[in-house]
Amino acid sequence: MTLNVRKRSGALGATVTGIDLSEPVSGDLLKKIMEVWNEHLLLVFPDQKISKKEHIDFSRNFGELEVHPGGKHVLKDYPELLWLTNEKDAEGNYLSLRDGGSIWHSDLSYMACPSRCSLLYAIDVPDDGGDTEWANMYLAYDNLPKELKKLIEGLKAVHQFDLADNPRFHPPSSMTEEDKKGSIWEKKSAEVKARTPDVIHPIVRTHDVTNRKALFVNRRFTTHVVGMEESEGEELLLELFNYVENPENIYHHCWSKDQLLLWDNRCTVHLACGGVPEGQLRTMLRTTVRGGVPF
Ligand code: SIN
Repeated sequence: MTLNVRKRSGALGATVTGIDLSEPVSGDLLKKIMEVWNEHLLLVFPDQKISKKEHIDFSRNFGELEVHPGGKHVLKDYPELLWLTNEKDAEGNYLSLRDGGSIWHSDLSYMACPSRCSLLYAIDVPDDGGDTEWANMYLAYDNLPKELKKLIEGLKAVHQFDLADNPRFHPPSSMTEEDKKGSIWEKKSAEVKARTPDVIHPIVRTHDVTNRKALFVNRRFTTHVVGMEESEGEELLLELFNYVENPENIYHHCWSKDQLLLWDNRCTVHLACGGVPEGQLRTMLRTTVRGGVPF
């Protein structure tokens, strides 16, 4: 099997063809995928007809799979699969999480061991909207002014799961408790909160494979800088987010059905751009692979 690799943007991303992900992946092929992935950070595998089990099996090549700590929105028979959909039942209730990922983030950065990578498979793709963007956190770090690099050296930040605890965001005033169901605004239960205490990570982490430095902060989960006054820390974080979200760092992806995307959460952040018109369906299934403690 020969892999074909085509770069997708100056920032990150490559398309990989010449592989059928419904088949087990052999040692050499897997090694090649890892090399290409470490170089491009995000891989797009188009036209993959894979079952839920095959999605899980392929994901296991990258490490131990996680069950989303939110405890909801996972498939009953395959709890390793997070179900992201705007589909509703006959009563008009959302079947699962409709707006997951709609603020820049790195998956599960609020855990002591954040996700190493994620594998998102497109089941239903709308005609309009529903794109996703990724930012390259190596580049974001490399492009910081020298003084800012010096300032953040050794600094740490708090990451929190519950959006209601994040002082940066507030639900739209028109949103009722009922509207919050199936949304990122849904209140986390005491059990989920106990499972996801706040964690502290370095603001700059070193990738355990490439040894490159990457920024490791995101708008969704990073709430405070340790040892700084709240307003001073927020000012610093907002400045860093601006470097992260510089258009030159970003790859914008328009989905096609049956694409599987694999990305590295150690050196990228991503955003579900939304904008899906009412009545159009968007359904994705995602696995995440447990990573190590950031250093
Ligand atoms: C995610 O945040 O992992 C999901 C992104 C998307 O649905 O586009």
